[in-house]
Amino acid sequence: MKYEKVNMELRPSVTKTFGILTAGGDCPGLNAAIRGVCRAAYDRYNMTIIGIANGYRGLIDESVRMLRPVDFQGILTRGGTILGASREKPFKKETGDDEISGDKVRAIKETYRKLGLDCLVVLGGNGTNTTGYLLSREGLNVVGLPKTIDNDIVGTDRTFGFHSALAIGTEAIDRLHSTAESHNRVMVIELMGHKAGWLALYAGVAGGGDVILIPEIPYDIEAIGHHLVDRVKNGGKTFSIVVVAEGALSIEESRMEKKERKKYRAETGSPSVGYRIAREIEEETGMETRATVLGYMQRGGIPSASDRVLATSLGTAAADLLARGEYGKMAALQGNDITAVDLGVPAGKVKTVPRDHYMIDTAVSVGTCMGVDG
Ligand code: F6P
Repeated sequence: MKYEKVNMELRPSVTKTFGILTAGGDCPGLNAAIRGVCRAAYDRYNMTIIGIANGYRGLIDESVRMLRPVDFQGILTRGGTILGASREKPFKKETGDDEISGDKVRAIKETYRKLGLDCLVVLGGNGTNTTGYLLSREGLNVVGLPKTIDNDIVGTDRTFGFHSALAIGTEAIDRLHSTAESHNRVMVIELMGHKAGWLALYAGVAGGGDVILIPEIPYDIEAIGHHLVDRVKNGGKTFSIVVVAEGALSIEESRMEKKERKKYRAETGSPSVGYRIAREIEEETGMETRATVLGYMQRGGIPSASDRVLATSLGTAAADLLARGEYGKMAALQGNDITAVDLGVPAGKVKTVPRDHYMIDTAVSVGTCMGVDG
């Protein structure tokens, strides 16, 4: 396939050579973002691009290759990441160690200098952008991009990957509806989202979930039971859909220390919260209940049109940041604008659903139980 270089005038650029990596869990839209960064950097600014394999691990191992147009054409719609990803966190203490050894960070800095990079572009979630921030404090130039299906990055209104996962979650709920209705069952579906409830809340509203459980609102199983029984007795509905975020927890669990909660969960023997809640619902209501854990289905496959657009816009904006030498920033969506925030803004934080978010009220207004009375 011949690469068609866009016929535009070359613009000056502070950055001549940069490295690009994708870290953390993959998500739809990563390749679209890589393409956005690379096309703009190459076509508009004539930069040299070094692809780094498997996230920060590739910088430690010096697993790198020059990216040429042939590498970043035809990837807009592809799922996953052409660069590979890993959860390598170079600043994380090794188990048992009191201190970070510093070896990994040293190796990263050495590779950065050896390759003659002017900047590092990191595509990732909270962990990746936090590492980017810490590396920038170590003297490296870093530009971040917000990707994750969890939508939990502070500083951007949306992350790419979220919309695709939302569509997949919604379709799964739609499919569960018909089988739930046929068998007069309660269907529990567990969605990802890490410690935030964005995905479950949005997919739950989009799919018309009867109960939505998110980590931000610890649930009361009695309230859920009342709601489900009421649907049968007073609503004539013999089936229900319960959408659960993987981080959801009961009121009792929310009062426990992390270690205690872990022990409690191990003792109850359920592999994940979806199965635990399904069992609790059966015990509470006597209704036949089934659980589905959607898992990695939410991360695989082609990006939605909306994620392609967002990833491309954020990617090209990152190339502009490189050209202007605006380092230490993460490209972001704020309102209808593509902007940039300091990497310190997302670093070390998780954007959870605020209790007064309009979507919670939206869900309640259409009769959805959010796991508690009222
Ligand atoms: O951050 C994205 C995510 O898919 C979360 O929703 C989930 O908790 C986690 O990654 C799963 O991580 P792993 O790929 O390490 O199993």
